[in-house]
Amino acid sequence: MNVKLIGKKAGEVVADVVVVAVREGHELTGAVARFPKALRTSVTTRAKRTHFKGKVGSTLSVQGEHADMVLVGVGDGAAAEHWRRAASAARGAAASAHAATLALALDDAEHPAEILAAALEGLLLAGYSFDKYRTKKDDGYRGPKSVTLSAPSLKVDARNRASVDRTQAVCDAVALARDLVNEMSTLKTPGHLASVALGLARRGRVSCEVWQGERLRREKLHGILAVSAGSRHPGALIKMVYKPRRRSRSRIAIVGKGITFDSGGLSLKPAKSMETMKMDMSGAALVLALMKALPVLEASVEVHGFIAAAENMPGHGAQKPGDVIRYRNGVTAEVLNTDAEGRLVLADALCLATEIEPDCIIDAATLTGACMVALGTRVAGILGNDQELIDALIACGTQAGEPLWQLPLVEDYMEDIRSSVADIKNVGGGYAGTISAALFLRSFIGKTKWAHLDIAGPAFTEKPLPYTPKGGTGFAIRTLLAYLDSIG
Ligand code: BES
Ligand code: MN
Ligand code: ZN
Repeated sequence: MNVKLIGKKAGEVVADVVVVAVREGHELTGAVARFPKALRTSVTTRAKRTHFKGKVGSTLSVQGEHADMVLVGVGDGAAAEHWRRAASAARGAAASAHAATLALALDDAEHPAEILAAALEGLLLAGYSFDKYRTKKDDGYRGPKSVTLSAPSLKVDARNRASVDRTQAVCDAVALARDLVNEMSTLKTPGHLASVALGLARRGRVSCEVWQGERLRREKLHGILAVSAGSRHPGALIKMVYKPRRRSRSRIAIVGKGITFDSGGLSLKPAKSMETMKMDMSGAALVLALMKALPVLEASVEVHGFIAAAENMPGHGAQKPGDVIRYRNGVTAEVLNTDAEGRLVLADALCLATEIEPDCIIDAATLTGACMVALGTRVAGILGNDQELIDALIACGTQAGEPLWQLPLVEDYMEDIRSSVADIKNVGGGYAGTISAALFLRSFIGKTKWAHLDIAGPAFTEKPLPYTPKGGTGFAIRTLLAYLDSIG
């Protein structure tokens, strides 16, 4: 989408629809007070009739002098998330008017860089759609083609322009992740994820290596091999490295779960539970999205991405309950439930991530249904061994509108994953499934600082959310980009 910046008042901007932000409780005294009298009267009448108070995301459409106008509530206008949601709602209202051009008019008081960026982020993310498999081309309207951000004293300078470009790069990365998650599993095999990774690496600053078959055996990546054994599609370990132009002091490892379909394996899932299991590679999509964005953002930290990719199927070679996996770091794990496959493949990638001695490891995985029971679909679980890292990630998540909630790594629950034949087993005692999964992962990271994001709930949405249509959400990508930016 074409994004323009101009330093003009709401009344001077030219667009099919002009969006004006209003604060809750000031819906008639803020920007509206400066409208021409006739328009002010019609807004007042309509606001009364529709009980428009400026609540976040509520809209009021009126016919302006030169353009359709949409008033959108931004609540108290303080939190970036309010602006994302407001901008997204405004985009919806503009779309119902089939606007080809949209302008977002802000007051001078409300265009600090973060607010401008958040509003644009909301607009761009709300514009995402996955229509590759639609044949009925409705009326052909695909949303506004250009957006103008304006405020009377807005400077159209290099800094503001750069901020727009960064926001666009972030949203492009989120769109890539959403596309990958929404893609059907029969197409997005582990090999397909590998070719996406290799494609991203062709564009400089990012390198990529893919290990499959014999190489996985040589490298003792037995978790990926075990989970892939029941599938016709070979598993893969995908490693990507982003190196900044100037040598960096920090090196961060990001690990993503890339189960391209989770049938449960021989511990087969019921049909209903399988319906959304194409989303089980959301952690991998996150790693790919970061690798797409980092070079564009010219990030200053070195980032190593590891994707453990496999399809979890019950084919004739499938691993069986009771099998034991011997990992690269010497740890042995008994597989009692083949549906707890995420931790099995992540263990391989965590071993590799630990070996490069990074400053920290952050993994993202749609790991446990238990995390959805605990936190629902809007909040991800976070667990780890370094409180400073966890606090920093939670803070970035709050800013990004991607809430993370910490769960404890309860030492006593190690008992739950003790095995009678191997070092550990891949299922816990029935309670606290998110914690026992995280404790399993901890066996593979040694002393490295580490945070684990269980994104099972928020990675995929079965109903439209603010600035997020149904399907893959791209959750935690913006949080991690903000975190990487903060340590650079
Ligand atoms: N991919 C699932 C977790 C999941 C469930 C993600 C629902 C998103 C929505 C994971 O591989 C899984 O099946 N976990 C099992 C673990 C259990 C067998 C210990 C679960 O949560 O039921
Ligand atoms: Mn599973
Ligand atoms: Zn899974």
